[in-house]
Amino acid sequence: MAKETVTITDNSTGKSIEVPLLRGTEGPPVADIGKLYSELGIFTYDPGFTSTASCESKITYIDGENGILRYRGYPVEQLAQKSSHLEVCYLLLHGELPSKNQFETFRKNIAHHSMIHEGLKSFFNGFSRDAHPMAIMVGVVGAMSAFYHDSLDIFNTDHRDLSADRIIAKMTTIAAYSYKYSMGQPFVYPNNDLSYAENFLHMMFSVPAERYEPNPVIADALDKIFILHADHEQNASTSTVRLAGSSQANPFACISSGITALWGPAHGGANEAVIRMLMKIGKPENVPKYVEMAKDKNSTFRLMGFGHRVYKNYDPRAKIIKKIAGDVLKELNIHTPLLEIALKLEEIALNDPYFIEKKLYPNVDFYSGFILQAIGIPLNMFTVIFALGRTPGWISQWMEMIAEPKQKIGRPRQLYVGAPERDYIEMAKR
Ligand code: ACO
Repeated sequence: MAKETVTITDNSTGKSIEVPLLRGTEGPPVADIGKLYSELGIFTYDPGFTSTASCESKITYIDGENGILRYRGYPVEQLAQKSSHLEVCYLLLHGELPSKNQFETFRKNIAHHSMIHEGLKSFFNGFSRDAHPMAIMVGVVGAMSAFYHDSLDIFNTDHRDLSADRIIAKMTTIAAYSYKYSMGQPFVYPNNDLSYAENFLHMMFSVPAERYEPNPVIADALDKIFILHADHEQNASTSTVRLAGSSQANPFACISSGITALWGPAHGGANEAVIRMLMKIGKPENVPKYVEMAKDKNSTFRLMGFGHRVYKNYDPRAKIIKKIAGDVLKELNIHTPLLEIALKLEEIALNDPYFIEKKLYPNVDFYSGFILQAIGIPLNMFTVIFALGRTPGWISQWMEMIAEPKQKIGRPRQLYVGAPERDYIEMAKR
């Protein structure tokens, strides 16, 4: 078969080059423009990377037009229904579902690493009590670099595996401690008899004076939330992890940078923003007013939990999470007026030409907050839960990048639109 190419012509010089058209196993073809600058002297311009594939990856596939999400080829719906978060972690990291023995070894490994260095605990005391838990996560996860020197050689596969297990294991402990610190309660050590999600709930809600029995329905819902957030190919936080890692920085520092990128309301911060928005809307009768505001070009207000860069159809994760939210609220016999507002908002927006034309549908964050609220997780911890879920994705993407022989430091170029050369003027003459 003839090699597929795309011809790029610079009409100002009449020069053109043929660049290879690469085909993955699925998804649109990709023009390999790596030689564009050396051969034609031009860069490409793509703010927000809307048409740019930044790497080759075997981990996650998304078809945004058809609402498809698969990890290592497995549909997320099947994983959410039949798998567990730890099994998904193994799948993302190693590429295949584990055998019984492989899973048991992995589970024990993660459990083995669930405690954090006692010295790392003193970091929490340096934060203000009212610090946002995401701020604490950024600091403490980055500080892990200062404690686990025996796994920092990124070119050693054993070190990389050890770091990956440590990060997945310790994230829940660090997250729960950031909550405990803000509550002024003592830290609770992990209990490795519990599952990953149960252990997190135990560290969040146990106190020395009272035993906490994790409710299996809640633990299962949380485990599914983790699965649904586990990876999402080259999103902002994952790209941040890869870019930081491309300079050969250690994995703890890279994951910390991913947490930073996740924090914003346009990304992982949206789950917190959705509940705050629903509280502000206050009652279903106010929904039309807010929908109008979201459409108004003179207003900066957006419907949080709506829209997605890639999904131009219903976010497949939102469908699953909406059902889990219903089940959890029913099980716990919780009736929240916010759910009524959310359902009304969804109904109005999905029938409004503005949202239809722009293909804006609820995303994963629209309903996840209801589950988290029902569990008793405070609003400012919502994005931390997203970070816990996304951790295996970040670390798997980082591992894939380091193992890639073509890997080099990420270094985008720019379209410079600043001042041309000019001479310095002495201050007295300005
Ligand atoms: N409410 C109202 N209008 C919206 C919304 C929204 N939530 N989202 C997009 N639009 C409009 C924009 O105003 C824009 O209109 P225009 O073409 O007339 O200028 C158009 O839809 C396209 O929006 P962009 O911001 O260009 O789309 P982009 O792909 O860059 O942004 C994003 C995607 C950031 C998710 C956006 O839809 C948004 O801000 N949503 C709300 C925040 C949110 O829920 N974030 C979570 C994302 S999912 C995740 O991280 C898990």
